[in-house]
Amino acid sequence: MPTTPLTKEREDQLNRRSLISRILRRVFFTRRKIPTASVKELLVPSPAPHIAAEPKPKPQRQRRKHPATPPRRPIENGSRPLMRIAIVNHKGGVGKTSTAINLSAALAEMDYKVLVFDCDSQGDLSAVYVPRSDQLSQSIANLFDGTAFVDDLIRETEYPNISVVTADERLNVVDKTHGFVADANVTCLADAVAAVQDRFDFILFDCPPRPHLSAFAALCAASHVVIPCEPSQFSVRSMVRLMEEIELARRTFNPKLQLLGFFLSKIANRSPSQAAYRKMLIDAFGEKMVMKTAIPVMATMEAAINIRKPVVYYRPRATASSIVRQLTSEIVHAHHGNQHQPAA
Ligand SMILES: Nc1ncnc2c1ncn2[C@@H]1O[C@H](COP(=O)(O)OP(=O)(O)OP(=O)(O)O)[C@@H](O)[C@H]1O
Ligand SMILES: [Mg+2]
Repeated sequence: MPTTPLTKEREDQLNRRSLISRILRRVFFTRRKIPTASVKELLVPSPAPHIAAEPKPKPQRQRRKHPATPPRRPIENGSRPLMRIAIVNHKGGVGKTSTAINLSAALAEMDYKVLVFDCDSQGDLSAVYVPRSDQLSQSIANLFDGTAFVDDLIRETEYPNISVVTADERLNVVDKTHGFVADANVTCLADAVAAVQDRFDFILFDCPPRPHLSAFAALCAASHVVIPCEPSQFSVRSMVRLMEEIELARRTFNPKLQLLGFFLSKIANRSPSQAAYRKMLIDAFGEKMVMKTAIPVMATMEAAINIRKPVVYYRPRATASSIVRQLTSEIVHAHHGNQHQPAA
């Protein structure tokens, strides 16, 4: 039987009918309520389904402001390591370990190869970088008692470019509180660094909150000292003691040791004492000795450490990460002319 061609109106009608029957079937089988709007739409003549509807303009996506990705190896002079940095303060809880973790990760992000010596028997840094670090058969203590070579103690981490020499409470057995300048092992870290330095761009030392053999050995092995200062923890006596120890390291084993500078850490924003504290450091050590970047108390920083991750890996785009990168860049770019020269 010859079929008569469908008129446009008839075609629309059939299309609408088939749509209605599909909706009814769906309601029947799923007992879902049809929104009144869709029923109304079916009752008014609509453009034929075969005519493509005008695409709705997509709302413009707001571009989020992300901090710049870190530059790749901003400083390069062909020699290794570029810096050996001891992170020191005899006061506890001022942010030494957090700085060592975040600085190492930010340097690694810049494609530098980093080795971190955990010199604190609390092993906080080791716990972040090496799972079950306290169950390893050897640790930094074996350098202090001369029972291992540094090569056997270097642990790769899950992060590219970061290696760690771990510490745990076995360090207490070999550490000393007095008479460490005359200890035969005071240069063990300097010797260890000399053995591996051509494999790393940066070597960091996370020091304990005490004037111990382990902290002094780090000062003997470092090229630079960075001092995180928490204003609420400041003590003139402890700062004087620290300066004396740096001078002692220069006079005895490490004449080229340089004070790279202080930075304010764990600062409470808008605290008036913070500006006064900064001024006091500038008056005592000179403006170039106090870094421009300060690390505020930030929940992201604390959360990162709590879940055992460097902040730049935990929240790469967070403000906390860009502050860490800024501090890292300031440290990397600090050039020798800016530094506190050893006393003549
Ligand atoms: N910027 C920050 N914002 C919030 N919390 C922080 C910040 N920096 C460090 N902390 C927290 O402060 C505590 C002490 O920090 P950290 O362990 O880095 O100090 P430390 O100087 O190494 O301490 P210790 O002297 O015991 O070795 C940690 O719980 C850490 O998570
Ligand atoms: Mg610590």
